[in-house]
Amino acid sequence: MTVLWGRRANNKPVKEKILEAYETLAEQYNARIDHKPHNAYYDRPNTLNLIGDVKGERILDAACGPGKYAEIFLEQGAYVTGFDLSPKMVALAKARNGAQGEFFEHDLSQPLAMFEDAQFNCIVCALALHYIEDWNPVLNEFNRVLKKGGRLVISVEHPFFEYTYFKSKRYFDVEEVTATWSGFGERVKVHSFRRSLQEVIQPLVTNGFLVDALVEPKPVAEFEKLDPKHFRELNTFPTFMMVRGIKPN
Ligand SMILES: C[S@@+](CC[C@H](N)C(=O)[O-])C[C@H]1O[C@@H](n2cnc3c(N)ncnc32)[C@H](O)[C@@H]1O
Repeated sequence: MTVLWGRRANNKPVKEKILEAYETLAEQYNARIDHKPHNAYYDRPNTLNLIGDVKGERILDAACGPGKYAEIFLEQGAYVTGFDLSPKMVALAKARNGAQGEFFEHDLSQPLAMFEDAQFNCIVCALALHYIEDWNPVLNEFNRVLKKGGRLVISVEHPFFEYTYFKSKRYFDVEEVTATWSGFGERVKVHSFRRSLQEVIQPLVTNGFLVDALVEPKPVAEFEKLDPKHFRELNTFPTFMMVRGIKPN
């Protein structure tokens, strides 16, 4: 893996800038998450489809945001633990899910020292791994805390979409990139790391996962009513991608 940049312009570490962005966005993100088309009618249905039935399972919702995935898993009878870097997101996940589930602040890039080995049937990490420069320590920990036969389902921005969107000239590198979001109310600069397709798949394999599904999703019908332009575009080119890795028996 070639990492291009660790720190940028205003000298703050990238993680601090990501945290600041999500602390700013948290309330609006939570207010819109139930029906925002890219989340509700593009990411979630396709990611949940790969996760399958969770009744009675122990689920880890890594980078849980305001706890919308957790809410769905809890409704289905799962036992849910979630964490997020942003204290506001964690507070919102607790508020959304009441006393059900367990939510705490934690940085994905740090070891999951609070968990013993083989605790979870399933880990979901939706739309968050692109905030992490080096996936190897994260995936190594995900593998450790999963039971044998357990599944990890991730959704990320599609590598080909990002390559085009960020006008990259260095496909093979992991590059820090910045986008300005306006879909959650105020305009916020969001830093992340774009990477090649190989840099999505190979760390999963290196860290002990059998990749058994890769989805280039299509939006579901409800998307069209809310945002027909993006519905048409997403039916011709993917913005996100979902991958499932299984921890072998
Ligand atoms: C696009 S949101 C997705 C939230 C949730 N997974 C969902 O799909 O509704 C990305 C989340 O990743 C969290 N995040 C970013 N960097 C993180 C890190 N290093 N550790 C844990 N969470 C992080 C943000 O705070 C934010 O809540």
